[in-house]
Amino acid sequence: MSNEYSPLKWGILGPGSIANRFGDDVKPLSDHQIYAVGSRDVAKATKYAEKYGAPKAYGSYEELVSDPDVDAVYVATPHPYHKEHTLLALRAGKAVLCEKPFTVNLAEAEEVIAEARALNVFLMEGMWSRCFPLLRKAKELVASGAIGKPRLIEADFGFKGGDTDEDGALKLGNPDGRLFNPALAGGALLDVGVYVVSLAQMFFGTPEKIASLSTFGKTNVDENTGILLGFAGGALGVLHTSLQVNTAQKATVLGSNGRLEVHSPWWCPKSLTVYASGKEPETIKDEFTGGSGFQFEAQHVAECLRAGLKESPLITLDETLAIMKTLDTIRTQIGLTYPME
Ligand SMILES: NC(=O)c1ccc[n+]([C@@H]2O[C@H](COP(=O)([O-])OP(=O)(O)OC[C@H]3O[C@@H](n4cnc5c(N)ncnc54)[C@H](OP(=O)(O)O)[C@@H]3O)[C@@H](O)[C@H]2O)c1
Repeated sequence: MSNEYSPLKWGILGPGSIANRFGDDVKPLSDHQIYAVGSRDVAKATKYAEKYGAPKAYGSYEELVSDPDVDAVYVATPHPYHKEHTLLALRAGKAVLCEKPFTVNLAEAEEVIAEARALNVFLMEGMWSRCFPLLRKAKELVASGAIGKPRLIEADFGFKGGDTDEDGALKLGNPDGRLFNPALAGGALLDVGVYVVSLAQMFFGTPEKIASLSTFGKTNVDENTGILLGFAGGALGVLHTSLQVNTAQKATVLGSNGRLEVHSPWWCPKSLTVYASGKEPETIKDEFTGGSGFQFEAQHVAECLRAGLKESPLITLDETLAIMKTLDTIRTQIGLTYPME
């Protein structure tokens, strides 16, 4: 293992769709290297390694985490495998960035986080939105009183995951794919609902009250979910998520003295506007280049590791646990359980 993490040598576990986007954004970074990749299929690993210039390609996840030169493992498999693959990497002594949702449920998250803490190894939930400069700025602005006392958040994240028929019900594109397949913990809530829950909790902390309602689809996972969160002191979160429709993908925090809008798509933002009472609206832009945004998450992991941290101050492990607890409560309310539970 390198001491300075310069470059930080990434090991990619599960070279699927998101691992390619991560590779696209991280490969150009001068102080990072896509160093190794592990797939269940060595030919697939080799193809990914060639694409991103990785010197090592392995035909198993075990070989990947055993490579002594891998500094950090990016767990990019579907949700039900996050626990197993994160534990595999942690037990090999590797720092881990695990894709969202962190796990399928709170019990799994508790097990993984307890292990990271016992082993004293870095672990972070890959909620990449939190690492975008503009979302960090939004948090700072709200905390500094730019809109007065924050009272409410409205946020949505939905997209059309398949074709709809005449009465609006979804005709599934791929019932076996991870979006709709219960065996892969499908549904809107765990795929994109986790973003709005995480955002609301970033501004307001852990909710005291939760109320939710869902429409289920043909594969028996949630395709539309509405969520109300009640926070200490009476602040509210009004959130919705969908696999049936493309939502506006906007987030607005409303306070006693104005509102802050993170413009669409809020989860990888390029602009926000503060509308403070009695002032001209102020728009802040970040037309970042050099990737779609995974560079911010990778750079944040590198900063944490170089500082010797075992968890991220942007997404603490306690916060990850609190988010998983909220998701569990919502799933109980809407009646969503998975075959692996
Ligand atoms: N941050 C974001 O913006 C974002 C966006 C999309 C997805 N994600 C998250 O990233 C994770 C992966 O999503 P994805 O869309 O990249 O998934 P995917 O392409 O369907 O699968 C990723 C990889 O997981 C591995 N895998 C291991 N066991 C598997 C199994 N039983 N079934 C299917 N694949 C299996 C496969 O790699 P090998 O066959 O090569 O071993 C596969 O290529 C999800 O948890 C998702 O929530 C995050």
